[in-house]
Amino acid sequence: MLVKDYTTMETSLGSVERIQEYIDMPQELTGAIASAHPPAAWPTRGDIEVSDLVVRYGQNDQPVLRDISFTVHDEERIGIVGRTGSGKTTLANSFFRLTEATEGRIVIDGIDISNIGLEDLRTRLTIISQDPVLFEGTIRSNLDIREEYEDHELWESLRRVHLVHIEEASPNGQLLIIGPITSLDDPVNEGGSNFSRGQRQLICLARTLLRQSKIIIMDEATASVDAETDNKIQEIIREEFQHATILCISHRLKTVIDSDRILVLNEGMIAEFDTPYRLINDPDSLFRYLCEQSGELESLTEMVRQENPDEYDAEIYDYQTEHDSDRTENELENEIDDDQDDQGQEEIAESPPQYRDSPDE
Ligand SMILES: Nc1ncnc2c1ncn2[C@@H]1O[C@H](COP(=O)(O)OP(=O)(O)OP(=O)(O)O)[C@@H](O)[C@H]1O
Ligand SMILES: [Mg+2]
Repeated sequence: MLVKDYTTMETSLGSVERIQEYIDMPQELTGAIASAHPPAAWPTRGDIEVSDLVVRYGQNDQPVLRDISFTVHDEERIGIVGRTGSGKTTLANSFFRLTEATEGRIVIDGIDISNIGLEDLRTRLTIISQDPVLFEGTIRSNLDIREEYEDHELWESLRRVHLVHIEEASPNGQLLIIGPITSLDDPVNEGGSNFSRGQRQLICLARTLLRQSKIIIMDEATASVDAETDNKIQEIIREEFQHATILCISHRLKTVIDSDRILVLNEGMIAEFDTPYRLINDPDSLFRYLCEQSGELESLTEMVRQENPDEYDAEIYDYQTEHDSDRTENELENEIDDDQDDQGQEEIAESPPQYRDSPDE
């Protein structure tokens, strides 16, 4: 009883603290200003332009993001990597103005996000974080907060994220639902505690599918699920969110290795922004170094190779012409690998990149 009361009190205090936080927040422009509303369908393409973005948490603090500028085209999938504390989450949060830019701007489909109301902004973009947010209620109320969708649409979204299989049970045509959810009215406990983390993440993905967001930002969304669930989620994202622009932050390099491009943050600055193919084949790149550190350089390189057979074919062709020999492709591939390994080691031995850990770290 005492424990329960204490918990209740703590929760209430938490709410008071949160209210205080909102009061302390700088007041935003009222959503009533007509020009503050973006067009109803914004963003329709999903182009992102970040210019000279500087973010600091306290007025006198050092900036956590420094002069960040990059452009992402619609439907691109960008992996964002970098050491702990390099500013990845701060960058993700800047898109939702959870941390306001000190300088610079983020423009999405031609609209500077600092000019639009927070509610508009936060409902038009989607963030999927490490802790998927579910509310106390039902599956229906969690998927369809504004009661906009038909039941069959809700079931379809659950099916597409593989949370349920739906079979027609003959002969009367009744549908048989197989999976952890048997009814849209199934209860969801506070925080979704009656579902596993992976299942919660899939329910959030189903919600994202329904909303058809053009911009999806994932911050370590699969960090706490096992590798198999991670693969499954990445597959769903590849298949179901082909028309969205995706920024995917991940410590697990395998999660982002098949991105169109990879943005590497280092101490709040962009160290690299290029294709995985170019970065992993550049012996001086910080990305390659992070791959080495993860102990997965070989398998990551192989994954890149599978994604870019044409580039590797061209490499074999160049090599073959250069050496004018009749060795098999396999022999040549091994030889190229050896050459690259040698080159990598030489480079490292001669000039250790400046971002390497110092020995006492
Ligand atoms: N609310 C905050 N107030 C003050 N400083 C903060 C706050 N949040 C983050 N920072 C600082 O900003 C820097 C970047 O933090 P951020 O969380 O963006 O890093 P990250 O790259 O996401 O790290 P991780 O990989 O550990 O998630 C860190 O030095 C951190 O101490
Ligand atoms: Mg983070």
